[in-house]
Amino acid sequence: MQYGYFDDNAREYVITRPDTPYPWINYLGCEDFYGLFSNTSGGYCFYRDARMLRLTRYRYNNVPADSGGRYFYLRDGSAGGGGGDVWTPSWMPMKSELSRYECRHGMGYSRISSARNGLAFSQVSFVPLHDTCEIHKITLTNESNIDKRIDMFSFIEFCLWNANDDMTNFQRNFSIGEVEIEGSRIYHKTEYRERRNHYAVWAVNVPIDGFDTDRQTFLGLYNGFDHPQAVFDGEAKNSVASGWAPVGSHHIKARLAPGESKTFVFVLGYCENPEDQKWEKQGIINKKPANKLLEKYGTPDAADEAFAALNEYWKALLGRFTVDAEDKKMARMAGIWNQYQCMVTFNMSRSASYFESGIGRGMGFRDSNQDLLGFVHLVPERARARILDIAATQFPDGSAYHQYQPLTKRGNNEIGSGFNDDPLWLICGVAAYIKETGDYGILEEKVPFDNNEALADTLFIHLKRSFDYTVTHTGPHGLPLIGRADWNDCLNLNCFSKTPGESFQTTANFESGIAESVLIAAIFAFTGPDYVEICRRTGRGDEAQYAEKAIATMTEAVNNHGWDGGWFLRAYDAHGKKIGSRECEDGKIFIESNGFAVMAGIGLKDGRAQKALDSVKEHLDTKYGIVLLQPAYKDYHIELGEVSSYPPGYKENAGIFCHNNPWVTIGETVLGRGNRAFETYTKICPAYREDDSDLRRMEPYVYAQMVAGKDAVRHGEAKNSWLTGTAAWTFVSISQYILGVRPVFDGLLIDPCVPSNMKNYTVTRHFRGADYHIMVDNSAGVEKGIKSIMVDGNPHNGAVLPVFGDNKAHNIIVTMGK
Ligand code: BGC
Ligand code: NOJ
Repeated sequence: MQYGYFDDNAREYVITRPDTPYPWINYLGCEDFYGLFSNTSGGYCFYRDARMLRLTRYRYNNVPADSGGRYFYLRDGSAGGGGGDVWTPSWMPMKSELSRYECRHGMGYSRISSARNGLAFSQVSFVPLHDTCEIHKITLTNESNIDKRIDMFSFIEFCLWNANDDMTNFQRNFSIGEVEIEGSRIYHKTEYRERRNHYAVWAVNVPIDGFDTDRQTFLGLYNGFDHPQAVFDGEAKNSVASGWAPVGSHHIKARLAPGESKTFVFVLGYCENPEDQKWEKQGIINKKPANKLLEKYGTPDAADEAFAALNEYWKALLGRFTVDAEDKKMARMAGIWNQYQCMVTFNMSRSASYFESGIGRGMGFRDSNQDLLGFVHLVPERARARILDIAATQFPDGSAYHQYQPLTKRGNNEIGSGFNDDPLWLICGVAAYIKETGDYGILEEKVPFDNNEALADTLFIHLKRSFDYTVTHTGPHGLPLIGRADWNDCLNLNCFSKTPGESFQTTANFESGIAESVLIAAIFAFTGPDYVEICRRTGRGDEAQYAEKAIATMTEAVNNHGWDGGWFLRAYDAHGKKIGSRECEDGKIFIESNGFAVMAGIGLKDGRAQKALDSVKEHLDTKYGIVLLQPAYKDYHIELGEVSSYPPGYKENAGIFCHNNPWVTIGETVLGRGNRAFETYTKICPAYREDDSDLRRMEPYVYAQMVAGKDAVRHGEAKNSWLTGTAAWTFVSISQYILGVRPVFDGLLIDPCVPSNMKNYTVTRHFRGADYHIMVDNSAGVEKGIKSIMVDGNPHNGAVLPVFGDNKAHNIIVTMGK
């Protein structure tokens, strides 16, 4: 069943009932200030770093689900008998019965509209461009024919900034909470007296009739969010928090005549002061930055203006790649939601979602490089800056910290290094950036190694070290050593862990020095040629030759030692035993090495590529996507690590780990099999499962990291939505390889590989300063092949469209055929 629908013109997903099978969320903010926002107004916000600078508290894995948010309580004095009718218009936390409910998640904003007893409520929530706050514009409308006396109470719960301490260190926390109240503004200033120079402000643009800042006073010690005492009493208590749990609640009394509306602008902001200007006087914080922010958004008109600017921003961004096709599901995913998710993964990496607590993980070296594949066309300058940040954490030998911290931008020692696929993703990311922009200048940027300026060298040298790292770290079969693990973090071939709780990611009890990865070899063969091109185009001919040879050697190693007869092997373990072979009892075949090898074109000539993907189809395919391996590991294998720790069908142990499905999709396009490519694309694409939401459970507008595989009890159920490399790779697969509009070093390559029943479609693509309007005519009904290309009315030779760079629009007509 469906819980909503896509409104493509508005670029919104409209949720029509609040009790979705899981909280369906959205992200507010796209620069420094972010909010997670669920369809029932749950979630939290933070400034830049979800762990260190969290403004509001959220209770992960709590009951009921989705506890904590920006809540508005309404007490309608003219309904519900003498005590008034108390309800929450976002449904949660009171689970109020509503006569109307709708939540629209849009690009960087969400709106909730609801009604009860003739009182209508609307909430528009967003983070304005360039400011560090959330705006919640609330409108109350009396739709009844009697006068209404409304008490409205806002409510947020402050987090004491460090989200980890906030949830653990109560012996301290319960004594440090501090607030200040001035008029309608509630300031949260815990720790400001000592080492912080920032505070939060929760304000509304009208005079208030009371406030509360002490949680226990507002809620009552034994009440939940669904029964705040102050609201039921109809009176704020004007409590001033001192220790315990500071909250922010405004009490507003509103009189509404029939038909009358009133609008309130609530702002939740993050403010910083220079160290020497922290105080107005002793103990009283300097409110200048807050005043400035709140003056700016002091009226509904100002909020509307900021909202309009946000909409314009997104309209322009998504205008850089648009799709029009008969298949609306594909068109809306590729044209809107997939790109939107790419922005979110670019911003968040894997830090804050409803599955990532925002506490544990920084920016992944591998993750962030891949994320930018789906983002670089949107804001190339930000991709450029990101590349330089990532590269600066690389070690001089080319290896990398697995993660770095977004605030300090330094490599994270705790997670360590030694994931031997990491270095290659830097080449992949930089190549994507150069193909998009033509900016070879980035290669000459001086970039530190290990954040040490003294070790700085050009970005090109970073790429070389990445490349060389793979060349020089090979094992007995000439295949790359896997190190801690490769892309599959759970293939921990040197870990050998027996101790519960020991991290699979950082433990190495068995430094075999021989465990090898066929996947890394395939990544090398895929991304290596880009390195060769980069060398060639920057006058580094000798290096290009050396690199080409290394790639040929590696490809030979895959051919000689990476083929299992029907598919590509996955790896060799620490004892030199095959993984992903028919010789194995479980884990006979894996998806990753097969998808990537074919992407790289290995085995194209001798039929192995086709055979490999046929085997993938035969052994790994399901109704909901392609599982990672088969048969699932039934027991824990100490020599394999975490992959075998998961119950069969979940996560890396034979789950449908969506990130790698597009590798097969792209592989299928390399084989020219458009029907199969599209089938693999649609199976994991959420829009195609909208009416199956009870099983899938996650948002129908975003990809999930994992869908339970066929061995799992809940086959087809998704988890870990939003923050996944699936976003970038599916966007690459659909935009570049299926619809076939692919940036290459020389221009825009047109190379569609579509299902034969896709008769025509249009793509517009902004590329290096010009707009390409590309109409593809496939009335011939082929899967691949181009008969002719017309550019602005003239026949064009070859499949690469030139770089016009003239700020103009160009019309391209592509006729497919044999
Ligand atoms: C998960 C992986 C993840 C890794 C690192 C494992 O438990 O299964 O998907 O990459 O942890 O956080
Ligand atoms: C999630 C991690 O973010 C990613 O880096 C990894 O490749 C996959 N898990 C597979 O293990």
